[in-house]
Amino acid sequence: MSTEVLSAAAPYLIEQNYDAYTEEQHAVWAELVGRMLPELERHAAREYLEGFEIIGLRRDRLPKLADISARLKPRTGWSSTAVSGFLPAPAFFEMLATRRFPTTTWLRNREHLEYTPEPDIFHDVFGHVPMHAHAVFADFLEHYGRVCAQTADAAVLEKLGRLFWYTVEFGVIRQGGEVKVYGSGLISSHGECLNVMGGHCAIHDFALEEVVNTPVKVDELHKLLFAVRSFDEIYEAMQEAERRALCNTL
Ligand SMILES: [Fe+2]
Repeated sequence: MSTEVLSAAAPYLIEQNYDAYTEEQHAVWAELVGRMLPELERHAAREYLEGFEIIGLRRDRLPKLADISARLKPRTGWSSTAVSGFLPAPAFFEMLATRRFPTTTWLRNREHLEYTPEPDIFHDVFGHVPMHAHAVFADFLEHYGRVCAQTADAAVLEKLGRLFWYTVEFGVIRQGGEVKVYGSGLISSHGECLNVMGGHCAIHDFALEEVVNTPVKVDELHKLLFAVRSFDEIYEAMQEAERRALCNTL
């Protein structure tokens, strides 16, 4: 849990210098939230919207990671922990395994509202962190980190990476007869979200076998995503993935 000392991730930990954010940056945050939230109120999973309120995200100011973590930790043990940027895999997995979500502190500028090649605080906090308030999702994500941290086989890690991609980053769920988004890449991108909601992307029922055998393409909008019926399904899929990784059948 989060009292454990980090080793692989230690060199990447930083402090969020909240007072250094400019009014322009707060205004960009407000604009990013303002353009996504109305869409998400219609199209996001209810657990995401509940998480948004639970962690106390503000619409008009950038989030203080310490405040977010103070609200999150008592619920699920997760924190949103500032890091200097892209993490090598062992550091990333170590943080997930100890319920610390590696969170970038920089924010895109006004010229790049829609897309940044590397995650920023909008993608990381607005996109990811609300789901960490959900107990089953929270357990799944820790388990994912633990299994990956213990896996050396590159082919297995690639398949586990696809499981992460099609859930944490681009996951959708069926609720009330509709497809709703919960993956951070959909939550934090107008274009990706519209692509799914506009019916331009096929939605298959989530099945571990198909998910881990569907290669990830990062340079185009998705043509196929996978819908769970509940978050129990991804929790169970992770248990199954671990069993299969151990006996080399993933
Ligand atoms: Fe992400």
